[in-house]
Amino acid sequence: MEFSQQLSTTPKSDEERAAVLANPGFGDHFTDHTAVIDWNWTHDGGRWSNARIEPYGPIALDPAASVLHYGQEIFEGLKAYRHADGTVWSFRPEANADRFNKSAQRLALPELPVEAFVESLKEIVKADRSWVPTGDGEALYLRPFMIATEAFLGVRPAREVSYRVIASPAGNYFGGELKPVNIWLSTKYARAGRGGTGEAKCGGNYAASLAAQLEAEENGCQQVLFLDPFNDDAVEELGGMNVFFVFDDGRVVTPTLNGTILHGVTRKSVIQLLKDRGLTVEERKFTLDEWRRTAANGTLREVFACGTAAVITPIGQLKTAEGDIASPALAADSVTLGIREELLGIQTGAVADKHGWLTRLA
Ligand code: COI
Repeated sequence: MEFSQQLSTTPKSDEERAAVLANPGFGDHFTDHTAVIDWNWTHDGGRWSNARIEPYGPIALDPAASVLHYGQEIFEGLKAYRHADGTVWSFRPEANADRFNKSAQRLALPELPVEAFVESLKEIVKADRSWVPTGDGEALYLRPFMIATEAFLGVRPAREVSYRVIASPAGNYFGGELKPVNIWLSTKYARAGRGGTGEAKCGGNYAASLAAQLEAEENGCQQVLFLDPFNDDAVEELGGMNVFFVFDDGRVVTPTLNGTILHGVTRKSVIQLLKDRGLTVEERKFTLDEWRRTAANGTLREVFACGTAAVITPIGQLKTAEGDIASPALAADSVTLGIREELLGIQTGAVADKHGWLTRLA
C-alpha cells in the first residue's frame, strides 16, 4: 500500500523534543505525525484507501459517529527500538497485526492486511524517527487503532472506518526506576466473561477495568488483578498485563488462554525464552487458593506481570480484603530480572535475535 506524505509544517522544536526524550514517562507526549488509512463498505466486502501520513492533530468526527456511542473500536500496542547503529526495529509486529485482525473480527470491524499494518509502522517511524528514545528501557510506543466513524445511530457494524497509528516516546510504564508493584485483588468486578470480548484488544475492556483500577489506587496499589469467580477464582490477568508465577523447582505457571484472557505478544515471547532456559512452563488454571498456599509454604518464589508497555515488572504484594500475599524479595539471579534483561536485550539489539523476532522499521 502506497502512503502519501503530508509532513507537519509546525513540528515540535528540537528543544521541546529533547525535553520530552529526557523524561518520556508513559503516554503523555506524542510525535509530529500520524498514519491513517480509510475503509469504506462496498457490496463486495469493503475497500481500504487513501493511506497517508499527516500532521498529528485532533480528529474531526461527526457527533453521531458510532464509535462514540457503541464503542466499536480496537487497538494494539507495540514499540520501536533504536539499536546502537541508529537503525530502528520493532518486535514481532506480525503477531500484533494478527491479533488486531482477531480483535477486528470480534468487534465486526474490517481486517487490515498484515503488510499494510507493518507498512503503516514503517511510515510513521520514517516521519518521526528523531522521536525514538535512546535511554535504557525506553522506546517509541506505537499505538495502532481502528474506529467506527460512520454517523449512524442504528446498532450495526459501521460502513465507514478509520485506521490510525499514533506514536509516543515511552519509559517505564509505572514511572521512575523499575521496582516491584503492588496489585489489588478485585472481588467486586470481573474483567471478562465467557463469549465476551476478553480476548479482544478493544477499548471497552479497558473502560470496564477502570472502576476496579480506582479501587486499587484507593488501596495503595498500581494495578488490579481480575479473577474468574465462576471458575474457582482462577487468576486471569491484570488491568492491562498477563501474569506469571515462578516456583522453586523451575516450574513457571501462567493462566491458560481460555477465551477471556488477552493473547499477549510479550506473554508468548516470555514462554519461549523460559523454555529456552530449560524451565518447565505450565499454561493452566492457577487459583487464588493455590497462590495463597504456595506463597505460605515458600515454594512460590517470584510473581511478575508482562506486557508491551510494562515489559516485565515484578509483583511485590497482592493486597486483598482478606489479607495480603507477599512475594519474597527478588534475588539478584531471579528469573524475572533475567528474562527482562534478555527480552530487552533482544529488542534493543544487544542480544542475538535467535527466533527472528525483529523487523526493521527504519
Ligand atoms: C500494552 O502493553 O501495550 C497495553 O496495551 C497495556 C496498556 C498500556 C493498555
